[in-house]
Amino acid sequence: MKPELVEIVVNDDRRYLPCSGLVSLAEVLRDELQLTSVKVGCSEGTCGACTVILDGEPTLACLTPAVACDGGSVRTVDGPGELQDLQCALQDALCEADAVQCGMCIPGIVVLVSSLISQGEIRVAEDIPRALIGSICRCSGYSRIVSVIEQVLASQPPTSRGTP
Ligand code: FES
Ligand code: FES
Repeated sequence: MKPELVEIVVNDDRRYLPCSGLVSLAEVLRDELQLTSVKVGCSEGTCGACTVILDGEPTLACLTPAVACDGGSVRTVDGPGELQDLQCALQDALCEADAVQCGMCIPGIVVLVSSLISQGEIRVAEDIPRALIGSICRCSGYSRIVSVIEQVLASQPPTSRGTP
């Protein structure tokens, strides 16, 4: 079957990508655009490693058919955009705290957490464990990761933590 040309804005660049059948958004981002920050840990929606922002919402790219994203907008941890400062702050703090081991889970967690902080879904430290429930760290680095998120959350002005 001839691949369908799908239009997706990826990190502010408009792309026309050949997609066939049920090829996932994660595969297209990695294989067609070399955005290997989009990790594929399980391919079945249980680890969170493939999380990207699709039309403003955290989305599991491994479960999302690329053809379903036609006309949509995707952001990965690589991209510019309104979450960039927060993403950079999280990445820097994770590295400084030695909270990154193999790194497989980190891009997905950074994308997810920065989005949830900006949407007001993570407002206080107690919100963090619930937010990470779908993010599996195989290296079991949760305590450092959670501490870093707490630290970055505390450094954010209340206005950047979503509307009350
Ligand atoms: S690779 Fe998508 S949730 Fe695990
Ligand atoms: S740092 Fe290895 S999976 Fe989280």
